[in-house]
Amino acid sequence: MKILLVGATGRLGTALGATLAERGHDVLGASRSDAAYPVDITDPATIEVLYERAGGVDAVACAAGSTPYKPLDRLTRDDYLSGFLNKALGQIELVRQGLPAIAPRGSFTLITGILAREPIVTSAAASVANGAVEAFVRAAALEAAPVRVNAVSPTVITEALDKYADFFPGFEPVPLERVVQAYVRSIEGAETGRVFELG
Ligand SMILES: NC(=O)c1ccc[n+]([C@@H]2O[C@H](COP(=O)([O-])OP(=O)(O)OC[C@H]3O[C@@H](n4cnc5c(N)ncnc54)[C@H](OP(=O)(O)O)[C@@H]3O)[C@@H](O)[C@H]2O)c1
Repeated sequence: MKILLVGATGRLGTALGATLAERGHDVLGASRSDAAYPVDITDPATIEVLYERAGGVDAVACAAGSTPYKPLDRLTRDDYLSGFLNKALGQIELVRQGLPAIAPRGSFTLITGILAREPIVTSAAASVANGAVEAFVRAAALEAAPVRVNAVSPTVITEALDKYADFFPGFEPVPLERVVQAYVRSIEGAETGRVFELG
C-alpha cells in the first residue's frame, strides 16, 4: 500500500514508519520539517499541497497533534482553541481533504489518547481535543464507507515515561510496539469507526 504518514519523524511516527516499511508498504513521511512532504496540520493550505504532491494513497496515518496542558484556572479560551485547531481540526482536515485522494477501500487512522476517557490534572484542553477526534471518527465512518476511519487511543507510552511519568502516576504504560500494531490493524484490516483503546 501507498501510505501517507503525518508526524513521521516523531517518537511514534518513526516506529510506525519503520514497521510499515518492513511490512512492504510504500511510506510517504510528512511533517512540518519534512523536505519532500512538508505539512502543518493547523494550516489547511499545506494539507491541500500535501495531497497534490502525494497523489492517490491507500491509507493516511496521523501521529501528530499537540495540545496545551495547564491547570483549569489558567487555561484560556485561546488554549482550548489551539488544542482543538491542532489535534482535532488538524486531523479532521486531513480526512476532509483526503477523502477525494484515498483509494475506494482505503483508510484514515488518527491519533487520540487516554485523556479522552481518563483525564489527569491539567488535561482539560487535551481531553476536549482527544474526545472530539474520537467523536469525529465514529461519525465520519458512517458516511465515508467503504473508506474506513479509525483512531488509536493509547495511554502513556512506555518509551515516553522519561517525559511523562510524573503526569500519569499509577497508570500502566503501553509499549510503543502495541501502539504501532494498532495502526497496522487499522490500516491492513477491515474495521471502521473504531477507537482502538490501549490502556
Ligand atoms: N507519547 C505518549 O505517551 C502518547 C500517548 C498517547 C497519545 N500520544 C499522541 O501521539 C502523538 C505523537 O506523539 P509523539 O510522542 O510521537 O510526538 P512527537 O515525538 O512530538 O512527534 C510529533 C510528530 O508530529 C510532527 N508534528 C508536530 N506538529 C505538527 C503539525 N502541526 N503538523 C504536522 N506535523 C506535526 C512532528 O514533526 P515536525 O516537528 O517536523 O512537524 C513529529 O514528526 C501525539 O498526538 C500525542 O498526543 C502520545
